[in-house]
Amino acid sequence: MDEIIAFTRGVPPVESFPVKRLEECAKLALELDAGRVLQYGTAAGYAPLREWIAHEYRVSVDQILIGQGSLQLLDTLARVTLTAQDAFFLEQPTYDRVLTIFRRSGAGLAGIALRDGRLDFGQLESKLKSGIVPRYFYLIPDFQNPSGALMPLEDRRRLIRLAQDHHFHLIEDGPYRHLRYYGEDLPTLFELAPEQVIHTSSFSKLISPGLRVGFMILPPNLFQSVRKFAEDTYINASYLNQAIASEFIERGWLSQNLVELKELYRPRLDTLLQALDEHFNGMATWIKPQGGFFVGMNLNEGLRVPDRERSQSAGLVLSDSRGFFLEGGDQFIRLPFCALNSAQIREGVKRLRSLFPDY
Ligand SMILES: Cc1ncc(COP(=O)(O)O)c(C=O)c1O
Repeated sequence: MDEIIAFTRGVPPVESFPVKRLEECAKLALELDAGRVLQYGTAAGYAPLREWIAHEYRVSVDQILIGQGSLQLLDTLARVTLTAQDAFFLEQPTYDRVLTIFRRSGAGLAGIALRDGRLDFGQLESKLKSGIVPRYFYLIPDFQNPSGALMPLEDRRRLIRLAQDHHFHLIEDGPYRHLRYYGEDLPTLFELAPEQVIHTSSFSKLISPGLRVGFMILPPNLFQSVRKFAEDTYINASYLNQAIASEFIERGWLSQNLVELKELYRPRLDTLLQALDEHFNGMATWIKPQGGFFVGMNLNEGLRVPDRERSQSAGLVLSDSRGFFLEGGDQFIRLPFCALNSAQIREGVKRLRSLFPDY
């Protein structure tokens, strides 16, 4: 068997890392600000980066909390604000690690289905009508992990109206938003209704996950308690890494990097969509994403995701799809396309198709 093809982790490829520029940023951060970046700091984060984020999102700097990746902040938010008495909604499917974090909080989780990439408002409204109102509804409106879906503007507005009417908050996770290969930006939930939304995002997919720099925009009433918990737990996330990200942005390299990443990833998405059309037409459905890292495929009735042994026998590794769902998930396959080159993508889809010989 040739190399194993891994359709598993949604990670950026090594060739996307701006190593030389990061080297320079690390050197500058140490030369210019060693006293701050090598010292303990306040839990809120490295001030120049917080200020840039506040400016970008047009909010007060006092609302910006920087963490060791956005996952850490989601975990901290869950620990500080969620109890076993709370209800918590998420899209189904959703990002598996976030599902784990919120499941651990003990809150009563409920999945609201994404059907052909659209949120099932019937399901959401009937839950609300039955009196189940969540403390939060966690969503990834831009190029969702794992489905690739983009929430249409009318759905964003409708969701916000429901959140306002029933008094719950939306947690909007946006790490893929700036990786748009086609079409025009839609307003974020946060831009549409800042008072109703906790927005979180990350530099993991825009610079490098190894930096572990993510941030959260919190309403003033929550900011201090979440920040205090962070301080009591780990003092602060790495200022050196935050300063590297900050230097990177200050030099204009983030926008340049985004242009380069899109040039690298767009053809990979195109190749994957072509290969799926060629091999899975009529036996599965998928959304054609306009950005992000993933295409999510739903197999037709009667077909099941092959188990680990069968996939491996074809030289493939697939994610355990059940991790993206509260229940079910054995007809769903997440296909991350950024970390594979075109030849690997074509070969991977061919191998995947070979696992359904009877169809
Ligand atoms: C939707 C979503 N949120 C958060 C993360 C993790 O971000 P970070 O590296 O900032 O913790 C990922 C990474 O795959 C993701 O897909």
